[in-house]
Amino acid sequence: MEITSTQHSEIILTGDRATGPLHLGHYVGSLKGRVELQSTHQQTILVADMQGLTDNANNPNKVSENILNVVADYLAAGIDPLQTTICLQSQLPALAELTMYYSNLVTIARLERNPTVKNEIQNKGFERSIPAGFLTYPISQAADITAFKATLVPVDGDQLPMIEQTNEIVRKINSLAGYSVLNECKPMLSKASRLPSTDGKTKMSKSMGNAINLGATEKEIRKAVNSMYTDPNHIKIEDPGSVEGNVVFTYLDAFHKDEGYVQQLKEHYRRGGLGDGTTKKILEECLQELIRPFRERRNELLNDKAQLIDILRVGSEISRNKTEQVLLDVKGVFGLNIL
Ligand code: TRP
Repeated sequence: MEITSTQHSEIILTGDRATGPLHLGHYVGSLKGRVELQSTHQQTILVADMQGLTDNANNPNKVSENILNVVADYLAAGIDPLQTTICLQSQLPALAELTMYYSNLVTIARLERNPTVKNEIQNKGFERSIPAGFLTYPISQAADITAFKATLVPVDGDQLPMIEQTNEIVRKINSLAGYSVLNECKPMLSKASRLPSTDGKTKMSKSMGNAINLGATEKEIRKAVNSMYTDPNHIKIEDPGSVEGNVVFTYLDAFHKDEGYVQQLKEHYRRGGLGDGTTKKILEECLQELIRPFRERRNELLNDKAQLIDILRVGSEISRNKTEQVLLDVKGVFGLNIL
């Protein structure tokens, strides 16, 4: 992510659904960037437990049990709670209230057109039984973003429709008010392309069981690398192989420190004579080295849950004050601050 001096006045908000531990895709896609931004920007990270419930209400443990995992992942990856405010969505009632007001400004047809929501509805097999909370989560996400007056939202590409819907709501509120109450926000896309899943079929995803978590054990890492999709036509070691679409090389590009060495490996692989066993061994070593400190720190952090809860409590208190203020402003637009 590029940081320019003009961005330092920007207010950053990001969030993650608390539906599973974070994985390498989160790390390259946004966590790494957040760690870089925290020393120069005002940054808040929201653990989105309420959004997590929008498709898990029948299995709420999946959310409640992952809240502290996600916080531990943040800290293990280098987020410093003294620089970044980490807060819990369900502890900020202003967010739910804002969602209620904004809901009157968004049509069902508009929600059904949101391409990310559309995809998710299909993938999750909701068919006609879509929870109302799920269909409307872009409105709740708009509440998250605007309640912090965020101007910059580091997200991956599939969150762009949320930013668009947020800005539509912002414009409606501002035009109702006749002056600028809320800020429009910009997405901040990571330069790293989205990491594919280990089978190469989709992007890495918590829900698809194809991810390498930041807390993965040695054995899990080995298993994931060994099962990675390579080049199905590269049968004998002497055969020339293809690097494009070969997940082992995509990961080497994303994680290996020595770019020149990866280039040499690619050339060798293309020429023939380099086996998948060898490339996988090299990748495995690289990932073991990357993940080991995350895993160790994460385990230590999870041994002291009281400390993690404290971090969330402090962050949520700071955030409560900020978000209440924006709620008052929005209620004012509707003339509802009469008591
Ligand atoms: N939708 C995000 C995800 O799928 C989580 C999220 C909730 C979020 N509120 C947000 C992201 C606000 C950015 C800004 O993980």
